[in-house]
Amino acid sequence: MPVKEFRTVVTEKPVLIGPDSKDDNIIFAIESSCDETAAAIVKNGREVLSNVVASQIKTHIEFGGVVPEVAAREHLEAINLVIAQAFEQSGLKAEDITAFAATVGPGLVGSLLVGMNAGKALALAHDKPFIGVNHLNAHVCANFLNTDLEPPFVALLISGGHTQIIEVKSYLEQKIIGETIDDAIGEAYDKVARLIGLPYPGGVNLDKLAQTGNPFAFKLPEAKLQNEYDFSFSGLKTASLQLINKLKKEKSELPKADIAASFQENVSSTLLKKVKKAADSIDAKTIVLAGGVAANSEIRKKFFALRDNGYKIYAPEMKYCTDNASMIASSAYFLAGTMDSLDVEVFSRM
Ligand code: KG4
Ligand code: ZN
Repeated sequence: MPVKEFRTVVTEKPVLIGPDSKDDNIIFAIESSCDETAAAIVKNGREVLSNVVASQIKTHIEFGGVVPEVAAREHLEAINLVIAQAFEQSGLKAEDITAFAATVGPGLVGSLLVGMNAGKALALAHDKPFIGVNHLNAHVCANFLNTDLEPPFVALLISGGHTQIIEVKSYLEQKIIGETIDDAIGEAYDKVARLIGLPYPGGVNLDKLAQTGNPFAFKLPEAKLQNEYDFSFSGLKTASLQLINKLKKEKSELPKADIAASFQENVSSTLLKKVKKAADSIDAKTIVLAGGVAANSEIRKKFFALRDNGYKIYAPEMKYCTDNASMIASSAYFLAGTMDSLDVEVFSRM
């Protein structure tokens, strides 16, 4: 079980953080890497004491996607309110907090700066440690919230920017078994959603529409790759575009629900097949889903069905799938992908 010494910012007093720390660790975390401004307080990496998310969806609908400059400005407007609400919901004060944490990357630099600087300022003002968190590790840690999950397990990280199969050997030891060689799965969802004329945020809207369509209406291709655990979604995206153009010529009305359902069927069966194979290859019986796309109804259904075959399947509650700060606090506690100095800077890519 890991435990690490973090120093308070002003007096440099040592503070032990991690599962082996003798004291309760209460972590206040901030997330602002993309289009949600979030703050949360989590006890010992698992018990959520408050969870506040201010979404920018309404603002970005107008533009059909996230505009980085606009996102950063919105974070700036929301951040103080969100922090105040997180304290209020929990009934705790700054003195009760063991450490402050914030996402430092990957993400939009202007947006990350807002959350990270707020986190550092809180740490400085209250003489507590500051912990910088890697957003991707945090998505995986969302599975620790309100559960008793422990490594080892295989994680499928599916988000707007990433698609990875990760072997999580311990809280700190991870190995990427496979990943996308082009588009991330969330990106593919958002692009195909736009092609069939669905509004931002594409993924969740495509998911809803797919539930009303025939998943076997159209056959879309699956990429063949050298590493059988890698993914490629750019060919699927092009095939979807070609199908849509063909149908537009042939039919008076585009069968949007059938296209959505066929796309979703293709993606969800590819994920299931590859992850199951990867898990079997290392004798792993526990599989966890993580990231915004883990909120997808069909992906969850297909993976949960593996429980009948003796697998343990975890997926975060819906509200912890998409970006939130509770997962950042959990990651800071379990020390997965953390950076422990006030000098840490934001980064846009891995
Ligand atoms: O993890 P996340 O909130 O942000 C990143 O770290 O990227 O993931 C956002 C992605 C977006 O591409 C969004 O369209 C997708 O997750 N998403 C979904 C669903 N809900 C969110 N994709 C498919 N089905 C959903 N239900
Ligand atoms: Zn995310």
